[in-house]
Amino acid sequence: MNVLVTGGAGYIGSHTCLELLNEGYGVIVIDNLCNSNPKSLDRVQSLTGKTLKFYEGDVRDEALLRRIFAENEIGCVIHFAGLKAVGESVAIPWKYYDNNLNSTLVLTKVMADVGMKNIIFSSSATVYTADNEMPLQESSRTGNCTNPYGWTKYMTEQILSGMANADKDWGIVLLRYFNPIGAHESGLIGEDPRGIPNNLMPYITQVAIGRREKLSVFGNDYDTPDGTGVRDYIHVVDLARGHVAAVKYVTANAGCEVFNLGTGTGYSVLDMVNAFRTVNNVALPYQIVERRPGDIATCYADPAKSAEVLGWKATHTLEDMCRDSWNWQSKNPMGYDS
Ligand code: NAD
Ligand code: WQD
Repeated sequence: MNVLVTGGAGYIGSHTCLELLNEGYGVIVIDNLCNSNPKSLDRVQSLTGKTLKFYEGDVRDEALLRRIFAENEIGCVIHFAGLKAVGESVAIPWKYYDNNLNSTLVLTKVMADVGMKNIIFSSSATVYTADNEMPLQESSRTGNCTNPYGWTKYMTEQILSGMANADKDWGIVLLRYFNPIGAHESGLIGEDPRGIPNNLMPYITQVAIGRREKLSVFGNDYDTPDGTGVRDYIHVVDLARGHVAAVKYVTANAGCEVFNLGTGTGYSVLDMVNAFRTVNNVALPYQIVERRPGDIATCYADPAKSAEVLGWKATHTLEDMCRDSWNWQSKNPMGYDS
């Protein structure tokens, strides 16, 4: 079966293309490369010894999508394409609503027209409200998002679940990712953020490689064991394998289902710093600074539903995540353009 992967040249998309190819799926990618480098796809092909088909273009381009569906027999879509920088979404909200909502609307319109109605969507733990009990279950409260990026994920979930409710032919899986980090063990593909990283792990690896002076730890006065923020970090290869499990599920089941993709374990910022130093034997200077607006103290998943229904569980440890993040960064100090 062929899977259409939107945003397949990106961080999570490229790791998922690799796992799909290894599992024997045909892979077709559409990506406009607004936040990625096509070298990721070359490397996926050399790592797997298999080829994939790449269309450079925008998911909002309806004519291009119609051409892709006409030229390929597609059995499932994984929709990664989207903008994901929280701060930028506050500064330029229209860009986020346009890209993230219109890409989904155009894509699902074309899918409905051609009668191929299986889709997996990249949602986020950011859709959960801040006042939930931990661990977060799929039934925990959602909404009250603190930024336009989060609202695009929340709204897309509403759009897709409404479609499944109205038309029983749709098979829809909403995957709520927790905090993806790490890289393929080869060190050939990984996260390659443009500009100053927003997220913790790419910032850590850029400090360790000498591109940044020191890590700023955003607050040590949270109600957590060491006062720093606690998150559910998940290895990107585990996350990618969760998509393969979701492809199997969505092609066999109609309706709309939500799944958490997390490990179920939370680590603090200082846990991450200490593990990274120990596993990789590198220096990692840091300073404690003010809290970052919009951050919450603690966020981790209950991954029981994914285990039970998808038969999927994260297997990589924190040490694996720290080792593989560093392996990628040290082999590619400037990312794909090294
Ligand atoms: P990424 O930026 O590396 O990948 C997204 C890809 O989509 C990029 O290759 C980009 O060029 C492409 N793209 C964006 N808009 C497009 C459009 N209109 N048409 C075609 N291509 C387009 O990000 P990622 O970390 O791999 O995230 C993938 C998805 O998962 C995103 O939807 C993101 O919001 C979601 N997500 C990411 C995280 C995370 O922490 N990385 C957490 C939760 C959810
Ligand atoms: C993790 C922890 C920070 C950077 C974000 C999005 C979320 C999802 C995943 C897409 C927090 C601390 C961070 C730094 C720090 N993305 N930190 N210094 O905020 O949990 O989630 O990415 O859907 O929507 O909001 O991830 O990696 O930014 O932060 O101390 O330089 O590290 O305060 O406690 P976050 P993060």
